[in-house]
Amino acid sequence: MEHKTDSRSHGRSKIALIGAGNIGGELAALCARKELGDVVLLDIPEKEGLAKGKALDLEQNGAIAGYDCNIRGTANWADCAGADVVIVTAGVPRKPGMSRDDLLATNLKIMRGVAQGIKDHCPQAFVIVISNPLDAMVWECARITGFPHARVCGMAGVLDSARFQLFLARELGVSVKDVRAMVLGGHGDTMVPVTSYCTVNGVPVRQLISPERLAAIVERTAAGGGEIVKLMGTSAYYAPAAAAVAMAESYLRDQKRLLPCAAYLTGQYGIHDLYIGVPVIIGRGGVERVVEVELTAEERALLERSAAAVRELVEASKRL
Ligand code: APR
Repeated sequence: MEHKTDSRSHGRSKIALIGAGNIGGELAALCARKELGDVVLLDIPEKEGLAKGKALDLEQNGAIAGYDCNIRGTANWADCAGADVVIVTAGVPRKPGMSRDDLLATNLKIMRGVAQGIKDHCPQAFVIVISNPLDAMVWECARITGFPHARVCGMAGVLDSARFQLFLARELGVSVKDVRAMVLGGHGDTMVPVTSYCTVNGVPVRQLISPERLAAIVERTAAGGGEIVKLMGTSAYYAPAAAAVAMAESYLRDQKRLLPCAAYLTGQYGIHDLYIGVPVIIGRGGVERVVEVELTAEERALLERSAAAVRELVEASKRL
């Protein structure tokens, strides 16, 4: 665990959002509403107007919604200087028919530039990567920044778990607020919804649902992102943004939440030298701890299969 000087003692927190597109805009809106800190929305020079426009719109919204944050749109990395948290959505989203892995070559190139920007301008930041393919992108971001692994992680598990929770709640006719579930593994077709830890306020979900229906929900969860891409021609943004903000908030407010995130493993779950979705504790030290939970033999096998797929993608990115 690492400790850093608390720059917030000199004022408000600063959150740099790299990419001012669909997720970036929603991230800014949520950070402002929660008054997590001042926000910088950075995009490429061709999209600087978009970033500035969204920032102004959101600042004006503060007068109605009752928050007070400085929100600045920019194409200049210098404006991100000293950020406490950086959230990366730079890159292209999926179009219908594409897998996340199809984005590798394009988004890897973008990530390399972005990670260098983070390294140069935000050397103390806690970094949350959202760009896809997630597990390979966060790997590359950690490699280029050279930051301690506790300060670089990826958002996928909170989102995938939320999808799982919603589908279960609808199936069971209960409030989504009472369904707890956890999805581990890579953010792709091989993700692992851990059904043994799914509960409705502590009641194991396996007591409430048939194995067949549960299997169908697991399948829908794994394809949950693609379902939305098919409907609207681009990828989801409300829930992805909310998931990353939960992680950022846990860091900034030292909440020590246990959240499934793409974290660097050094032997936990039998996996070495790889970023993949596992339960972690996020607090002021960043990813303070990887939590190793007991898995059934089947879940463990699925996690291993997922790790193999992620490793393949990381190897492919090394060749690009
Ligand atoms: N620096 C900053 N911003 C960049 C860069 C860069 N080098 N390259 C691209 N961008 C910006 C784009 O100009 C665009 O405004 O990233 C933004 C991405 O926004 P959208 O196209 O709306 O995509 P979004 O839905 O936000 O998804 C972003 O997150 O979930 C993943 O698969 C998704 O990889 C995609 C990413």
